Amino acid sequence: MRYHHTFQHIAFLCLVLLVLTAAFTARSEEELKIIAGPYLHYPTQTTMTVGWETNLPATTEGGCGKKAADLAWISGKEGESFHTLVFEGLEPADNYFYQVRSVSGDGAKAESEVFTFQTAVAADAPFSFIVLSDTQSNPVNVAKQAALAYSQRPHFTLITGDLVSKGPEKALWNNHFFRNMHALATRVPLVPCLGNHDEDTPYYYSYFALPDPEYCYTFSYGNLDLFIVDSQRPLTPNSEQYAWLESALAASKSTWKIVALHKAAYSSDEDDYGDTVETRTMYGDIRLRALSGLYEKYGVDISWCGHIHSYERTHPMVQGKPVLEGGVVYMVTGGGGGGLEKAAPWRSPFTAKVYSGHHYCLVNVFGPTLRMEAYTPEGNLFDFVELKK
Ligand SMILES: [Fe+2]
Ligand SMILES: [Fe+2]
Repeated sequence: MRYHHTFQHIAFLCLVLLVLTAAFTARSEEELKIIAGPYLHYPTQTTMTVGWETNLPATTEGGCGKKAADLAWISGKEGESFHTLVFEGLEPADNYFYQVRSVSGDGAKAESEVFTFQTAVAADAPFSFIVLSDTQSNPVNVAKQAALAYSQRPHFTLITGDLVSKGPEKALWNNHFFRNMHALATRVPLVPCLGNHDEDTPYYYSYFALPDPEYCYTFSYGNLDLFIVDSQRPLTPNSEQYAWLESALAASKSTWKIVALHKAAYSSDEDDYGDTVETRTMYGDIRLRALSGLYEKYGVDISWCGHIHSYERTHPMVQGKPVLEGGVVYMVTGGGGGGLEKAAPWRSPFTAKVYSGHHYCLVNVFGPTLRMEAYTPEGNLFDFVELKK
């Protein structure tokens, strides 16, 4: 009996050793792979930034050129799993091919397909961009919208927050965001903004290389200046971001100015600003209305938000009231993927269009004209507006 027990112990120990060895071997033989991207971001007239992530530490190498078969290769850091490269010395408004690859210490290589990008256009040229937000939680829909958005061949994609449903869960960035945005993000640069669900995660800062401090930054394209701020951080008149935004707006000489942030100062949502089954709505995040004075003073055309998982466009507004001339348009474009929300039962005094459903927007800018179209995932146009200077 005693002998039998000892034998059982030895057999059990052998089994544990076998499982551990197999697990270790499988891990050390894990194949080097690209698990996010490549994805483009922060385009200028002469540079393009590309990022990607590998499952294991490896080199950072990228090739770029005017012919797919003749790419000039550059290298970045070694032994990293988050990779960023900037292709420099490019020609404005030009078309390029690119490819990325990473090599690990044991010589294993992971490389992307050859993709394409365009450098930013000159200030007087027409351009087009997508606005999509709240891509969280619904990978199938995100993939569909990314493919549709890419079919419009835009110059860049503004994404106004809640890229994922829980920022600190890295698998969501890989499996929900980058995998499903692939058709668009490999060829059209992203201009991202933080949302509450992104939780200011360090992953945001690892994936994107944006001007410091990255949670707020400016981005210029053609005759448009975009000002990105983080609505999870204070935006009251004595805050750091408010002061930053004021000086950035004061310095801007662009024809068009858009401030992008996640949360909306104006919204008809039925239960985010009071529960309209029992009480009346506050019509949006009223703390953010402190920014309206800045918008009006410096001629901001549009404040573009997400957060509410539906669509809303206000009439141009001045001091909280719709106006016939000038004013600021407040957009909510939160239909990128997350569970949908509905409007309160009463039409709000600021509403020009409200709609519940997944969607993305396409904006065409040419000189003094800005045209905005909003589409369902079925490709149906459900809103249209033209702003003129
Ligand atoms: Fe959201
Ligand atoms: Fe949100």
